[in-house]
Amino acid sequence: MAETPVVDLRVHHKPHGLSDRIALGITKMLRFCADTFFAKRYGHRAVVLETVAAVPGMVGATFTHLKCLRRMETDKGWIRALMEEAENERMHLMTFIHVAKPTLFERFVIIVVQWLFYVVFFLLYALSPRTAHRVVGYFEEEAIISYTLYLEELDDGRSPNVPAPEIAITLLRSHPSFRAGCEKDGWLRKSSQ
Ligand SMILES: [Fe+2]
Repeated sequence: MAETPVVDLRVHHKPHGLSDRIALGITKMLRFCADTFFAKRYGHRAVVLETVAAVPGMVGATFTHLKCLRRMETDKGWIRALMEEAENERMHLMTFIHVAKPTLFERFVIIVVQWLFYVVFFLLYALSPRTAHRVVGYFEEEAIISYTLYLEELDDGRSPNVPAPEIAITLLRSHPSFRAGCEKDGWLRKSSQ
């Protein structure tokens, strides 16, 4: 049985002020929708949610780029960081489509959700970038909870524990810090056996 990493699920950014409360409210509402739609189908849940998670970085990069053009100032590396975050989430998606093939209906849901989420998040970022970034912070808290529950499902045999897709192994091997950690605990050796 795979060893589940120890994660403290109680770690939570306590909301300070209206902006944080709005961000938490948006996140909890989307969590409720995901729970209702997917229940414990964590693989399919991951596919759809990664299509959402990959949006904020690109919106943030767009706004930062436009702001730098208007103010004629440097971005201090933020545009690249935000775009890398969007790419990182897209790679999660590329991994999960090998784990859980999205159904035709889920592909339709992804199209509708992407349009809705992109427009809403874009408007939120225009009105309050701070709230938009806090939304992403709360998304990450929920992602940690969801993936920890998914790992429990795998460990208890309730979800099929398929081999890691080649794209995931390649990505892990190509990232120096991941590679160092994986080599330390023998993960890469196990995954290639
Ligand atoms: Fe992700």
